Amino acid sequence: MLIRDALPSDEPRWRRLWDGYLAFYETTLPEDVTARTWNRLIHKSDGLFCRVAETAGEVCGFSHSVLHAGTWTTTSSCYLEDLFVAPEQRGRGVGEALIRDLAGLAKAKGWSRLYWHTRGSNAAARRVYDRFIAADDFVRYRIFFGPDAS
Ligand SMILES: CC(C)(COP(=O)(O)OP(=O)(O)OC[C@H]1O[C@@H](n2cnc3c(N)ncnc32)[C@H](O)[C@@H]1OP(=O)(O)O)[C@@H](O)C(=O)NCCC(=O)NCCS
Repeated sequence: MLIRDALPSDEPRWRRLWDGYLAFYETTLPEDVTARTWNRLIHKSDGLFCRVAETAGEVCGFSHSVLHAGTWTTTSSCYLEDLFVAPEQRGRGVGEALIRDLAGLAKAKGWSRLYWHTRGSNAAARRVYDRFIAADDFVRYRIFFGPDAS
């Protein structure tokens, strides 16, 4: 399995996986949001970046992360926003490898933390996450603004 930065040529496959991810969350996004997201992931703008997992020459999963500054640290923090593995490739360690890849980048680049959250009920994801670290007791509050807030 190869884990690497997403390339512009990955767009068609990434879009199919992204559609699957949105379907998993029973949601849709306007095309301009998807197009802009891909553009920012590829150009690593606004701190966004995408790593993809490739098996047998086909991209089968992705991580989307946001690098940002913080008040408690002097180096960047990495927020893992989206993680997805194609259904037919699950249970083979791809999800774990995508997180391990980010942890490796964090160590190599001197980021201070890697963090993410998920629904308490997402048992498949939590099986993977619990291999890395125990969940803490923070809860999330969200206020939505604007037409594309979700
Ligand atoms: C969460 C996800 C990324 C894990 O990817 P993965 O490549 O299957 O991860 P791993 O192979 O490292 O581990 C899979 C774990 O899920 C379990 N699992 C649950 N449903 C599974 C399925 N349909 N197929 C295979 N494994 C499944 C496996 O048993 C395994 O746990 P175990 O080794 O303790 O038994 C993937 O299931 C996925 O994309 N889910 C939908 C999107 C999602 O929930 N993303 C995370 C949002 S925060």
